[in-house]
Amino acid sequence: MTELSCIVLAAGKGTRMKSDRPKVMHQIAGRPLVTHVLASVAEIGAREVALVIGPDMAEIAAEGEKVGLACKVAVQQERLGTGDAVRIGLMALPRPSGTVIVLFGDTPLITPGTIANLARHIEAGASIAVLGFETGRPTGYGRILRDAQGQVVAIREENDASPEEKAVTFCNSGVMAFNAEALRELLPLIGNDNAKGEYYLTDAVALAVERGMAVRAQTCDESEVQGINNRLELSRAETLMQVRLREAAMLAGVTMQAPETVFLTFDTQLAADVLIEPNVVFGPGVTVESGAVIHAFSHLEGTHVGAGCHVGPFARLRPGTRLGPKAKVGNFVETKNARVGERAKINHLSYVGDARVGENANIGAGTITCNYDGFDKHMTDIGAGAFIGSNSALVAPVTIADGAYVGSGSVVTRDVEAGALALARGVQVVKPGWATRFRAEKAAAKAKSANGAAGEAGEGRPAGDTLVKAGGQAD
Ligand code: UD1
Ligand code: MG
Repeated sequence: MTELSCIVLAAGKGTRMKSDRPKVMHQIAGRPLVTHVLASVAEIGAREVALVIGPDMAEIAAEGEKVGLACKVAVQQERLGTGDAVRIGLMALPRPSGTVIVLFGDTPLITPGTIANLARHIEAGASIAVLGFETGRPTGYGRILRDAQGQVVAIREENDASPEEKAVTFCNSGVMAFNAEALRELLPLIGNDNAKGEYYLTDAVALAVERGMAVRAQTCDESEVQGINNRLELSRAETLMQVRLREAAMLAGVTMQAPETVFLTFDTQLAADVLIEPNVVFGPGVTVESGAVIHAFSHLEGTHVGAGCHVGPFARLRPGTRLGPKAKVGNFVETKNARVGERAKINHLSYVGDARVGENANIGAGTITCNYDGFDKHMTDIGAGAFIGSNSALVAPVTIADGAYVGSGSVVTRDVEAGALALARGVQVVKPGWATRFRAEKAAAKAKSANGAAGEAGEGRPAGDTLVKAGGQAD
């Protein structure tokens, strides 16, 4: 393969997003649009990458690093068109040779395979290769025009197209590959005498053909090159990306009972033989090992789920959660920064944050780690085989050592040694016969007051009204 460089254009403001953020920083599948494009670029092994951004878009510049790319960031001060943007991007690269691929930062569904296929045309001797797609809705796209022999002769932008040209349904995706020499020769020839007064990169095609250079077109599926201009298109891209991620997971051995209700992130790692029930959401940074079951309506983020674990239904696993093999985290349990040992159980209605739970420990229903004092977070350390009775509050920092018991309803503020029982609650008092006497006294008082009220009713009040009033007094 010859040397490969990429220029990613992302200087557009994206006004139709109606947003304070640059368009390409909006997210699908848990990361910005432009980062999806840069990830594909990284995967094809591009040697040099230029990222063209607009003024005040510095936040985009950091996205390359996240996918291991050292991008050269170039700022396009004025949005003069894609031809101008590529000129600026090219200047940021150290005089590339071989193939230069131009991609748009707002086209996140492009796959590395498609980009690599396009590059092959340049390796085979073409000066330009255009990625096109057939569509029933060509409006807004540049049309790829071919002669009677099927050779590409030009790309015509929508606003400059004649009615016959508008009838063409083979459209420019915007992704183009160039021989580096040819690109350097053609770019200065591009003018801005067109409907928008912009320097169109697409004009390079006709200029190349005039000079006898070979131009090729490669076709891809429309879904892969959908650009995003507004929130509606953003949601459609999210849908397509989710379908792609779910399909990949299922083909890799994951069972999803209702895949359309499961939301994945670009980096979700699900091992074979994981079962995902309906309505589960995976935020960034989740790995789930084989045999684990994620029950319905659970939300996981920044979490490792060990082999054979059961999570949920209705569990919320927040960043820093690590579940050892066969651990169980049940309904309405929230964990955060918590290492839960093998076969430990937190089955119901608990908050376990900033904690270590040893293997085989049992955390009773309603246990809360009180990890925050309004200023700092503190750790709770629960030993192996410890048993925390229901409705206990463990006030951190605190250690419950191996095998210890905490009586239900305790508020534990001091460490508990291994094998001990800690009780930290009011001592139970039983008064024989108290309830019976209490009821009798209350019933007598009620009867007395009801008699008194009946007397008032005799003075002409409606009986129903009197009863309601008496009942209210008794409460
Ligand atoms: C472009 C193509 C069109 C293609 C369509 C596919 C041109 C002239 N037209 O049109 O053939 O069918 O994409 O979606 O290339 N950008 C800059 N600086 C600029 C102008 C644009 O960085 O000065 C970036 C934008 O941020 C965007 C990309 O280039 O990522 C495309 O720009 P856009 O204005 O959306 O081009 P289209 O009119 O959609
Ligand atoms: Mg566009």
